[in-house]
Amino acid sequence: MSLPPPSYNDDKRSFAHPTVHKRWPTIIEGAIDDVNAQNRPSGEVIVAKLKQLLGDFQSDQPVAKFTAAQRQLDPSCEFYNSHYDELDAVRKITWLTGPWLYLECHLYQLIHVFFLELDDAFWHTFDVFEGLKNKTFQQSQFGVLELCKRLQLLDSQLSKVDADTLELLFREFVDISLWGNATDLSLLAGNVTLEDIKSVQGAEVRKKNEEKILVNDLDSVWRHLTKSSGEKAVDFVLDNSGFELFADLSLALFLLDSKLVSKINIHCKEIPWFVSDTMPKDFELLLKQLDDVEFYSEIHGNPQDKQAIEYVSAKIRAHHSSGSIVITHNPFWTLSYNFWDIPKFTDLYEQLQQSSLIIFKGDLNYRKLTGDLQWDKTTPFKTAIQDLATSGLPVLSLRTCKADVVVGLPEGVNERLIQEWEAAGNAIGEFWTSSGKWAVISFNA
Ligand code: F6P
Ligand code: MG
Repeated sequence: MSLPPPSYNDDKRSFAHPTVHKRWPTIIEGAIDDVNAQNRPSGEVIVAKLKQLLGDFQSDQPVAKFTAAQRQLDPSCEFYNSHYDELDAVRKITWLTGPWLYLECHLYQLIHVFFLELDDAFWHTFDVFEGLKNKTFQQSQFGVLELCKRLQLLDSQLSKVDADTLELLFREFVDISLWGNATDLSLLAGNVTLEDIKSVQGAEVRKKNEEKILVNDLDSVWRHLTKSSGEKAVDFVLDNSGFELFADLSLALFLLDSKLVSKINIHCKEIPWFVSDTMPKDFELLLKQLDDVEFYSEIHGNPQDKQAIEYVSAKIRAHHSSGSIVITHNPFWTLSYNFWDIPKFTDLYEQLQQSSLIIFKGDLNYRKLTGDLQWDKTTPFKTAIQDLATSGLPVLSLRTCKADVVVGLPEGVNERLIQEWEAAGNAIGEFWTSSGKWAVISFNA
């Protein structure tokens, strides 16, 4: 079967177009400010390279492959170059016309290499997006508190739970994790306000959002997860740090404390990635921030709220130190490859084969599951994930839609939403798929 083409940056009806014209420059300008704010003379070199990059976007330069020196600094660059050759053979790659998914990954890899190239070792582990990540997590204070209180209540509920209620709780916590993905920080570079972001955090809003879940395979997921007894592990291939990570950890706590599973493996990114993605240090940082009286001053100012947040942070710490929550990372997650290639990366594949369920969080992971190709929207998920469907890996995607690709929709839904989105005053109806207002829960056993 011949595959559809990927989303390209010069397609005006693709969300790639506003991304590369508006969001990338905004993100890079923010990075320049954050490097400058460090007040280290050695940072000037980075600033110059980032400015050059902005110029390269503007004049639509061909994208350079990674040099031998860069490949030596970071072996991932080798994979990028071979992927580049494959794509460049189809269509010459320039910043404003190339394949969106590849180029967006290349961009973050390149920025990482800029930091590695400096002599001043301070920059080698510097996360240029950390300030933004922290600021936004701090603004999620009330969403965090609401979840802490929910988790406190959960413990008493779990002590006397029947099978039906357990399933309902499972659905609730999956929902929390799903809509946690609506707080993607890179959306801040567009026109989504912090108010919008906060509004998806409340339980009431989540309830209303149920009709916004266009594909919901949770029945099969529940059957799959409960069909056998015995020790089970669930893996999370994480997306964003901050509130989304906290929502994912809430689902993890539910899965462990309900004894549905005995181990959770959490897969993080090794380099600063798509602004807000979680690195292992972000997990540590989140635990510190939960306990930090100054970081969450309002929560810690009220004895009952303080007790709730301390209860949850202690619980996460306890699971982490006992080894039931394991934080892991692999360079594969920040390559440009689709996830169809996971079986070729044997260490990672073997690790994932131990899992009863692999939860891929968020939009970018969905794009990599489906290749970011221009699939017809009614294409079955199983078809769109190609080789992964026969890899033996149980794949669950929890994703709010923030790009072009969506599959598994019933006939007519795409057409209806295009009309709805236009009627709501948006110029391009097709952009409902990138608004973050709809979601999919797609599963392949
Ligand atoms: O929509 C713009 C974008 O940068 C996409 O390229 C990317 O898929 C998404 O934001 C990141 O979303 P998430 O954090 O959910 O993966
Ligand atoms: Mg992300």
